[in-house]
Amino acid sequence: MCGIVGYVGKRDALSVLMKGLEHLEYRGYDSAGVACIDEKAGGLFVLKEEGKLSRLKESLKKHSVVSTVGIGHTRWATHGEPSRVNAHPHTDCKGQIALVHNGIIENYALLKEELKRRGVAFRSKTDTEIAVNLIGDYYRRKRDLVEAFRKAVGRLRGFFAFVILAGNDPDKLLVFKRSNPIVIGLGKGENFVASDVSALLPYTKNVIYLEDDEYALLTRKDVRIYNLGTGKAVKRKPAVIRWNIRQAQKGGYPHFMLKEIHEEPRILEEIITKRIDRRGNVYFDTLGRGADLRLKKIKRVFFVSCGTAYHAGLVGSYLAEQFARLPAGAEVSSEFRYRDPVLHSSDAVILITQSGETADTLAALREAKAKGAFTLAIVNVVGSTIAREANAVIYTHAGPEIGVASTKAYTAQLVTEALFTFYLAGLHQTMKRTQVSELLLALKKVPAACEKILKQSEALDRCSRKYFRHQNFLYLGRGYNFPTALEGALKLKEISYAHAHGYAAGEMKHGPIALVDHKQPVICIAPASKTYEKMISNVEEIKARGGIVIALGTEGDRRLAELADDFFPLPPTHEVFSPILAAIPLQLFAYKIAAFNGRDVDQPRNLAKSVTVE
Ligand code: M6R
Repeated sequence: MCGIVGYVGKRDALSVLMKGLEHLEYRGYDSAGVACIDEKAGGLFVLKEEGKLSRLKESLKKHSVVSTVGIGHTRWATHGEPSRVNAHPHTDCKGQIALVHNGIIENYALLKEELKRRGVAFRSKTDTEIAVNLIGDYYRRKRDLVEAFRKAVGRLRGFFAFVILAGNDPDKLLVFKRSNPIVIGLGKGENFVASDVSALLPYTKNVIYLEDDEYALLTRKDVRIYNLGTGKAVKRKPAVIRWNIRQAQKGGYPHFMLKEIHEEPRILEEIITKRIDRRGNVYFDTLGRGADLRLKKIKRVFFVSCGTAYHAGLVGSYLAEQFARLPAGAEVSSEFRYRDPVLHSSDAVILITQSGETADTLAALREAKAKGAFTLAIVNVVGSTIAREANAVIYTHAGPEIGVASTKAYTAQLVTEALFTFYLAGLHQTMKRTQVSELLLALKKVPAACEKILKQSEALDRCSRKYFRHQNFLYLGRGYNFPTALEGALKLKEISYAHAHGYAAGEMKHGPIALVDHKQPVICIAPASKTYEKMISNVEEIKARGGIVIALGTEGDRRLAELADDFFPLPPTHEVFSPILAAIPLQLFAYKIAAFNGRDVDQPRNLAKSVTVE
């Protein structure tokens, strides 16, 4: 949460910062701000605005600043409401140092009292202002910016990333990371820093990821990394980013979310092609012999994740149990990390995450590692913290996902989990080769089926128009499509703000049936499966009570089509892949309802793409 960007070089710093912030705005959009060294006037120039980046852009037009060094920020508010005064960059009380921050400083209250006693007056309600004043306070005493930075950061508790800039030490940026992501972009005669690589894509593909408790000193010519505790220099080989700038643009679509939904068939096709070799075996380039040895010995699997990734984890747990015959469960990271789970070296904890930076999932990973479990991350963002810290990683290769509502990352997670399950089943010898071949054949047909669904989107258009004013929706599914019901409901509520609830259809008579009336649409996900007849009974029961049913079923299912008020056909597939197909119309349904209601689809209120604070 919150996007940070910094630049030191020869270009117009404000243009670089604003372009970077455009790419980071999905991380938070409560306010935005920049600080840079004003070469004409001398010293720091700071400008910030409440609200979206567009407001800051407008304000900037009123200023003509020449600068080649600066920092910028787009905020998701934690401490202090969204306002100009709480916006970043924050400056110390003497206006000498500016700081942008992502994360939470847990001991800010104590430090604030100490600083007040030393005569510091505070303007904002943020924890950030404490950090910048602590650095400023040490700076006034030490007269050495790096030393002051080190001393002050060493006293801060919590999880955060910073970049600072000083008016009277103008040619450097100082950067620190603990838990929250920071990536440094390397240029020629210029260097960059950002919360994630999307902000760096227009300028460089050579990057260095900072590790926890490291700080970096960036100048035009150089990047030096140090360990905060020891003060010793750290050598790190740069990595090369494989994403390109086109992937991070809307490409003619009105919203990133719609573009990302339309990318799904191609991405799934690419994943399947990449993961199946010429002899028809599933393989993962990032899993070596060591990982195989651990995986062969595992006796239980936990899927741990948040939000949409949790729904993918549920599907993963069903797959692992059915095909690898391992006891498996799925949990949300925020519960797992705090409940002191009993874990052994024969357990695998599979962390699923698009961003690879979600705070609770990262903490769950660390907890699992500390307890000796084998940790495997299924991650989209290459080089992210979770990808780097897990014992093994499998990338989902969905490309940058910008829309706050996760779409292509979800279906990429589902396909990757299916492939991984067949791989695991191979290690545990729980599936016959013919069974794997049949399933892989069915999986290879999934991308074309997704394409077909996208081509039928007018039917969804009609359906969404009919229901877009409704304020309550119930989603029901069973088996592999219980997680689909949860995911469909999450998608709708997060971008349309309608209330939507996902439920296991078998639980309907244990409570939610009380909600059934002639006003609330019930979305029933009922493709061909072993629980199909049970789903039909649920539909009958809803109709018997005058309810509205929107059904997702297998093409040609006349019985369901006749029972339901609206029917959306899914191409036939194996039951275990039906959540992949069913996800797409539900994503489109949510998208269209939100768009018809005039919602900000890519940047829904109160949300941020990457939840890097608890
Ligand atoms: O980056 P992650 O996959 O770890 O993110 C997990 C959730 O924050 C994320 O899926 C969130 O629920 C999305 N907004 C859902 O669309």
